[in-house]
Amino acid sequence: MSKCAVIGGGYVGLATAVTLTHLGHEVTVAEIDPERLETLRAGRSPILEAGLEERIAQGLEEGVLSFVSKSTEAAPEADFVFLCVQTPMGSRGRADLSYLEQAAAEIAPVLAQEAIVVTKSTVPVGSSRVVERVIRREDVKVVSSPEFLQEGSAVHDSLHPTRIVLGCDDQTAVAKVAALLEPLNAPIIVTNSPSAETIKYAANSFLATKISFINAVAAVCEGIGANVDDVMLGIGYDPRIGVEFLRPGPGFGGSCLPKDLGAIKASAEDAGYRFELLDAVEKVNDQQLDRIVNKIARHARPLNGSIVAVWGLTFKARTADLRDSPAIEIARRLRERNAKVVAYDPTVTGPAPELEGIEIVTDPYAATIGASALAILTEWDEFRWLDFEKVESGMKHAAIVDARNLLDPAPLRRLGFEYEGLGR
Ligand code: UDX
Repeated sequence: MSKCAVIGGGYVGLATAVTLTHLGHEVTVAEIDPERLETLRAGRSPILEAGLEERIAQGLEEGVLSFVSKSTEAAPEADFVFLCVQTPMGSRGRADLSYLEQAAAEIAPVLAQEAIVVTKSTVPVGSSRVVERVIRREDVKVVSSPEFLQEGSAVHDSLHPTRIVLGCDDQTAVAKVAALLEPLNAPIIVTNSPSAETIKYAANSFLATKISFINAVAAVCEGIGANVDDVMLGIGYDPRIGVEFLRPGPGFGGSCLPKDLGAIKASAEDAGYRFELLDAVEKVNDQQLDRIVNKIARHARPLNGSIVAVWGLTFKARTADLRDSPAIEIARRLRERNAKVVAYDPTVTGPAPELEGIEIVTDPYAATIGASALAILTEWDEFRWLDFEKVESGMKHAAIVDARNLLDPAPLRRLGFEYEGLGR
């Protein structure tokens, strides 16, 4: 059993913590936010993640998991310290490293002899070396190990990683981290820290590229009578392409893909290369929002002064995260064109700063009363099973714009709806 410290109780930190307790280690998590800390100490999860709360409660009960407010309390006894603090987007797309540098500076004087610091936060190329310089201890090694988990399946992804990347020039430190994580049975890629950092950005940029690619293909399909759902399967079964991340939608959002795309472009610029391919990926992503607003406008007839019902506000289903959500940006553009937006999302119960100007209701049917169009913007499975006869009877004009291709068009058309999805 090793002693581990995790600095930062967000998605990555909490998933890392419960993975380490699952592997039989003792973990102390440092969380700076007092409200979040209190929630965690009570055995509850501050974020909606399948399986997280149970594992937090279990860890506390078994005495193998604890939560403290300061990194200097968590770090002293640890053999491994995982840095899982946020790296938000700073100016001109560059990642803001201040939280990471601060955490490194705080733990430097209290780290145990020969401790290993593992950076899990997504950081620009060269950041692990920055952490090393801040810590300035010969005996302490820094290993860059980016996390690839997806929100909504964070615990599962952390327990079953597709690969583990370890970036460090010190082979002894790498061997120790590899031994710690080896029971996860994932392929381990050992490399230097700049490569480890690039892997994370390149992976997320590639996923974003796939999404913009399929959204562009969906636009073509609409013009020529093809069906993007079939095209997706037809190309996805080619193992060189793969079916994942080929679902058309309102565009990619969330706290990682847009940010990481900006960050790799900034790194490229620093290296004297203009990453034009990713400019196009971003452009298609932005155009997608307007394409959906225009579809809604065509059906609402007119948009100006009408009510638009929105189902789904989070950036994707199975998370309560509203950060950089395409749904919210679409709502904003609808309001700009003088529509009134009434929205329902299963995870949104009250007002939030991001939702200003959007009327929030806590029942999907209430959102549709008097609406001239219903827009489905997040792929919550439960939307499939609602009573569409009831929806139809309450709407001013029965039209559905399904920006996730979630529903089956034929039965809806039989009920009298105008239905439009993406690329089909
Ligand atoms: C992403 C990466 O997937 C993960 O590996 C990394 O560690 C963090 O960033 P996440 O931000 O949780 O994870 O979201 P993800 O599931 O990747 O979805 C990103 C966006 O793409 C969402 O807005 C989603 O709706 C959209 N998306 C995804 C599509 O539009 N189509 C798809 O086929 C897949």
